[in-house]
Amino acid sequence: MKLSYHGHSVVQIETNDKTILIDPFITGNKLCDLDPETVEPDVILLTHGHNDHVGDTVAIAKRTGAMVVALNELAVYLGRQGIETHPMNIGGSYTFDFGKVKFTHAFHGSSYEEEDGTFVYTGMPGGILFTAEGKTIYHVGDTSLFSDLKMIGDMNDIDVAFVPIGDNFTMGPEDALIAADWIQADTVVPVHFDTFPVIEQDAEAFAKQVKTGTGRAMNVGETLEI
Ligand code: NI
Ligand code: MN
Repeated sequence: MKLSYHGHSVVQIETNDKTILIDPFITGNKLCDLDPETVEPDVILLTHGHNDHVGDTVAIAKRTGAMVVALNELAVYLGRQGIETHPMNIGGSYTFDFGKVKFTHAFHGSSYEEEDGTFVYTGMPGGILFTAEGKTIYHVGDTSLFSDLKMIGDMNDIDVAFVPIGDNFTMGPEDALIAADWIQADTVVPVHFDTFPVIEQDAEAFAKQVKTGTGRAMNVGETLEI
């Protein structure tokens, strides 16, 4: 399985001959190295409805035919725009041909802002546990620290966790270090930082302080093979 990081919360997974793109915020993401016109995902997974996570989802899905897996309200909203969706909800899991997806909860908001400023309610925000080839990836999504991260860490043998460290909109580095201890992943990758001035962080310093597992600040475009 190959994992690559593309700035903000954008993570790509290659497994079972499929390409899975999580939270493809490409247009307007100054850190992102992907081209929304040429990415070729088979599947798009979304943690929640905020624009900095839904990003280019609809355009990519229309061009490529990628299926979008998201929490129910967000999936229904996106499905009405003419793309294939698979709605799920918190605590539910489903085994697809590309791997198993389970949504965890996350403490955050979830709404989509239309171009005219209208806010659309998109249900609960979540995190994503993805399992394939005997490996489990936890994309924590946008969230504060919450104690059930300990339960999630105890219940799952997590290989790689993508944890937000930006602060302001999500947990910051101090809380993310506690989250890393609770999640107990082999590798902890900081995400959701440096995209905007209010979430600038020292990801290398965070990675060095991770005590449970190994902290690894991935460069944009870098690939991790597990
Ligand atoms: Ni958000
Ligand atoms: Mn966000």
